[in-house]
Amino acid sequence: MNALEKYFTENTGRLIHKWKHYFEIYDRHFSRFRGTDVHVMEFGVFQGGSLQMWKHYFGPNCKIFGVDINPHSKQFEEDQIKVIIGDQEDREFLKSLAEKTPRIDILIDDGGHRMTQQINTFEELFHRIDENGVYLCEDLHTSYWRKYGGGYKKRDTFIEYSKNFIDYINAWHSTQQDRLSVSEFTKTVHSLHYYDSILAIEKRPIEKPYTLMTGIPATIPEYHPPKKSLLKRLKG
Ligand SMILES: C[S@@+](CC[C@H](N)C(=O)[O-])C[C@H]1O[C@@H](n2cnc3c(N)ncnc32)[C@H](O)[C@@H]1O
Repeated sequence: MNALEKYFTENTGRLIHKWKHYFEIYDRHFSRFRGTDVHVMEFGVFQGGSLQMWKHYFGPNCKIFGVDINPHSKQFEEDQIKVIIGDQEDREFLKSLAEKTPRIDILIDDGGHRMTQQINTFEELFHRIDENGVYLCEDLHTSYWRKYGGGYKKRDTFIEYSKNFIDYINAWHSTQQDRLSVSEFTKTVHSLHYYDSILAIEKRPIEKPYTLMTGIPATIPEYHPPKKSLLKRLKG
């Protein structure tokens, strides 16, 4: 059990609501920030328990920003924890958030979980995440739930939307640059990590990829496979 799951299991403080298997994933992507002056933004304050959990996990130098539509969430502010009230579906609000927070290293979307909320939040804030930061959107199972705007293979679910990211990180290799070209996403995203209900995006400045060869070359004749039409004729 990692430190985060231990805290959660033994929690006697404010209520926290998380899926059990998320703790391994969080620790895998967030442990490198522990003990640093990391800035964490979590959408979805609920009763403030997860904000306290992040504060405990990241340590005395971290800053935690909770965002929630419920004005009563403001009461969960304390040292190192700031709560900002607003609707994550509202693009103007999201734009203003960027001004209120000097830096975002980690963004956790555990808010309303509706498709437009997840997509708007991603579109307005992803570019604001630090160049070595992590963007984590959770409870993606709502992409399969009708009442949240989801549905299997339905256009505009967060899952379907995010499948395009796979193309974007591979855009260096596109021979149809008019359709798939190198973008800011290609140049700033190192990897996409899909789990049950979670997508974690690891940012890192990316250079155009290239291959190298090392070792001593052997002298072997080149092999040219016979053309398929010739094979057919030989087989008769
Ligand atoms: C699942 S709870 C968050 C759980 C919390 N992070 C925890 O781990 O204990 C979801 C929260 O999202 C908030 N929420 C719902 N719709 C929202 C919206 N449009 N914008 C911002 N927050 C929203 C709700 O008020 C609720 O507090």
